[in-house]
Parts: sequence; C-alpha cells; structure tokens
Amino acid sequence: MKRFLLSMVAAVVISPVLASAGEDGPTILDTRCAYCHNLKGPAPQTIHDLWKRDAPDLFYAGNKFRREWLVSWLQKPVRIRPAGVNYLRTINSTPHQEGKDGKKYDVLWGAVLKPLVHETLTAPEAELVADSLMKLRAGDELVSGMMVDKSKTVTLDQGEVLIDKVYGCQSCHQIEPGYGGYTGPELYTAGRRLQPEFMLSYIKRPKNWDPKIWMPNGNVKPEDLQKIVNYLILLSKENFDEAR
Ligand code: HEC
Ligand code: HEC
Repeated sequence: MKRFLLSMVAAVVISPVLASAGEDGPTILDTRCAYCHNLKGPAPQTIHDLWKRDAPDLFYAGNKFRREWLVSWLQKPVRIRPAGVNYLRTINSTPHQEGKDGKKYDVLWGAVLKPLVHETLTAPEAELVADSLMKLRAGDELVSGMMVDKSKTVTLDQGEVLIDKVYGCQSCHQIEPGYGGYTGPELYTAGRRLQPEFMLSYIKRPKNWDPKIWMPNGNVKPEDLQKIVNYLILLSKENFDEAR
C-alpha cells in the first residue's frame, strides 16, 4: 500500500514534466490537429467529401507554406478564408452586396461566421510543429520544375488588372480586405503564406492538388502566371494588417 501511494505521488509529480517533454511535433499533430486536418491525404475525391471537409488539408503542407509564416500563424491564428473552409455553409450565392469597389459580391450569412477559434501553440511548439509540417511533401511532383521568373515584374496596378479584369480571380478572392469575393482564401497575404512554386502550380491547375475544388483549372497564359505570382509577392509586402 505504501509503495502504491508513493508511486501515485511520483506519477502526479512527474507526469506534467513527461507530458511536455513528450510533446514533439508529430505527437502534437496527432493529438491536437489530426481530428480536424487531413495529414495523410488524399484530397477529397467526391463533391460530397469536399463538403464534409472542416479544415484545410495539410498533407502537402511542406510544399505549400513558408515555414516562417507557419511559426508565427500557429502562435496567433487568424482567419484566412473570409467565408470559412466551406463557403457553401456561409454564403448566399446571389451576388448582391456592394463591395468597396462598387461591384456586387456574394453575401455572407454573418450570423454563421464567427471569429476563428483555433489551436494556439507556444513559440517552441510552433517551431516543432512547423518542422513536422514541412516534412509533409505529398506534392513534390506537382512543384518540381516550377520556378518564379523574377524578370516578369508588374506594378500593383498591372497585377490588379490581371487578377480582376483579365482572369476574374477577384470574384472569389480578396486582394485587399473587403475588396473581392469570399469563396477563396484572401490573396493579399498569399505571398507571405505560400511558397512561390506552390502558387505557380496551384494557379496553373488547382485540381491537380484538390480534384473537386471550385477554383477553375484556368487557362492562365504562362507569361501571365509568372506575372500574377510576382504580383502576389509584391502585394503581400503592402501593410494591410501588421498582425499578419
Ligand atoms: C477544430 C478543428 C481544428 C483543429 C483541432 C486544428 N485546426 Fe488548423 N484550421 C482549422 C480551420 C477551420 C482552419 C481554416 C482557417 C481559415 O482559413 O480561416 C485551419 C487552418 C490551419 C492552417 C492554415 C491552412 C491553410 O491552408 O490556410 C494551418 C497551418 C493549421 N490550421 C494548422 C493546425 C495545427 C498545426 C493544428 C494542431 C496544433 C490545428 N491546425 C488544429 C481547424 C482546426
Ligand atoms: C470560383 C472561385 C475561384 C476563382 C475564380 C479563383 N479561385 Fe483561387 N481558389 C479558390 C478556392 C475555393 C481555393 C482553395 C480553397 C482552400 O484551400 O480552402 C483557391 C485557392 C487559391 C490559391 C491558394 C491559396 C491558399 O491560400 O491556399 C491561390 C494562390 C489562388 N487560388 C489564386 C487564384 C488566382 C490567381 C485566380 C485567377 C487566375 C483564382 N485563384 C481564381 C476559388 C477561386
């Protein structure tokens, strides 16, 4: 009995230490992230599965994100998709709300969309988890051969014309808070969040990454693809929100 009590005391004293020491990146991912995020692939193969998705896929995180962005976002997560992960749940698809640019956009069911509540990591945890996420590279093949041509520069105005007038990306994406549609992730922070090679590959053929996603496999000309990605990198240097 005495020995039992002693071991109880030892367990109580020791376990918090063990718990924190045991929480390496893979463990944190398994216990605190995997019940929402798909860490193993594949992407949803049917529309039905796409609709059931509650959190972005992370199984190609190492091909997608810039590590330094991951480290800071995981400590201070904020919303990236103005309508959440599944716009069908939050959007009234009849465009009729006037944006700052005077155009009509989809209306959000404001009551449904609450501020993002997300796991928040400490700085050391964020470093460990970022290392683990950077090892998830299921999209290696899709980014191989992708390279940004820095000579294809554009001004912010020229880039906006491409995104808005030429390719209509702005009907789904915002290029400034409140300026653009709601169904896709905000693009004004894309250059900070995403690897340039991922942007090239995703914009070229989004369905290679996510077969049922509602972003169209566009016909972006190779030259314009380069300009758009250079524009997104330039745009992300604008100071829209210091916190991001
Ligand atoms: C309760 C469900 C849930 C859990 C648990 C969760 N997340 Fe998320 N996570 C989300 C949602 C929802 C978003 C999308 C936020 C947005 O775009 O506005 C998200 C976004 C992200 C993003 C940005 C992805 C992208 O494609 O833009 C990363 C990275 C991320 N989570 C990592 C993690 C990590 C690491 C953990 C565990 C420590 C975790 N998440 C736990 C729901 C969750
Ligand atoms: C019909 C709506 C729609 C159109 C039009 C559209 N997109 Fe998308 N886009 C999306 C959706 C939806 C996603 C992925 C959502 C997710 O990961 O949750 C996406 C993802 C992206 C991503 C990856 C962003 C990220 O943070 O993960 C980039 C970059 C992007 N789009 C750029 C563009 C560009 C450039 C165009 C125009 C050539 C365009 N999109 C046109 C809906 C659209």
